[in-house]
Amino acid sequence: MNAQNNISNLAKLINERSGGKPVDMGLILGSGLSGLVDLIENAVAVPYDELPGFPHAGVSGHSPNLVIGTMEGVNVAVFGGRSHYYEHGKADAMRVPLEVLKALGAKAVCVTNSAGSLREDLPPGSQMLITDHLNLSGTSPLIGEPGDARFVDMVDCYDPKLVAAARRGAEEIGIDLKDGVYAWLSGPAFETSAEIRMLKTLGADTVGMSTVPEVILARFLGLKVVGFSNVTNMAAGMSATAITHAQTKEWAAKSADQFQALIKAFLRQI
Ligand code: HPA
Repeated sequence: MNAQNNISNLAKLINERSGGKPVDMGLILGSGLSGLVDLIENAVAVPYDELPGFPHAGVSGHSPNLVIGTMEGVNVAVFGGRSHYYEHGKADAMRVPLEVLKALGAKAVCVTNSAGSLREDLPPGSQMLITDHLNLSGTSPLIGEPGDARFVDMVDCYDPKLVAAARRGAEEIGIDLKDGVYAWLSGPAFETSAEIRMLKTLGADTVGMSTVPEVILARFLGLKVVGFSNVTNMAAGMSATAITHAQTKEWAAKSADQFQALIKAFLRQI
C-alpha cells in the first residue's frame, strides 16, 4: 500500500469510529499530561496499536490512544502520547499521525511538552507559551524528503493569531502566562550544567526532548501551530534537586489542573 492510501485508510477507520465530524484542531500531549483526555466530551478512543504507522507506547507517562471528541465546542483529535527521537533515532516518527490529523480536516495543532526551565520566573508547575524554538538536535524530520517543499519557512511557525488566543485565554483565567523559546535537544540523557549555561546564552527559556520535529512537520503539511511547555523542573545545575523522569511525571500531575484549565481557556478563544 502506498503512503497516501495508508493515510486515507487510517482517516477512514477513525471517521467510522468517531462519526466522521471534521476535526478542527489536534492536540499532542506531553509526558504526564494525558489526563486532559478525560475532559473530552463524546470521546471516542482509538488505540495507536490499531493504527498502522502510529508510534508504539515507548515512554511511561504517555497514553497511546488517539481520542476524538469535543472540548469547549472545538472538535479535537487528541494524541495521548507521542514518539520521541531518542526512542529510535527517527525524527519523523510523528509524520503519519500528523498526516492523518490533516486528513481528518484539522487546520491546526497544539503541541505540549513537559520541560525544564531556564528562568527563575518559570518555576516547576508553571506553563510557558512557546513563541519560538531552537532546534539543537542536529537533525530534522524532513531529511530525505524530496522536492522543494522541504525548504519550509519557519518564521512565525507558532501562529501569531493562535498565540494571541492563548494569551487571551490565560488572561481570562488569571494565569500570568509568560512567552518563551523552547530548545530541543535529542536526549535521552538530561543536560549537563554547562549545556544549560550554553542554552541560556543562546536564548532558550525551556528545554526538552520533543515537540520541535512535530512543529517542523506541521508547518511542512500546512498546519498552524501553537505550543505550551509545562515546567516540571529547573534545568540542570539550577537547583539542588536531581532531575529524573519520575519528577517530570510528579510535577506534570501536580500542575495538571492549571495546565488543563489553560488549554480549555485557549480553545474558548480560538
Ligand atoms: N531537560 C530535558 N527534558 C526535560 C526536562 C529537562 O530538564 N524536564 C522535562 N523534560
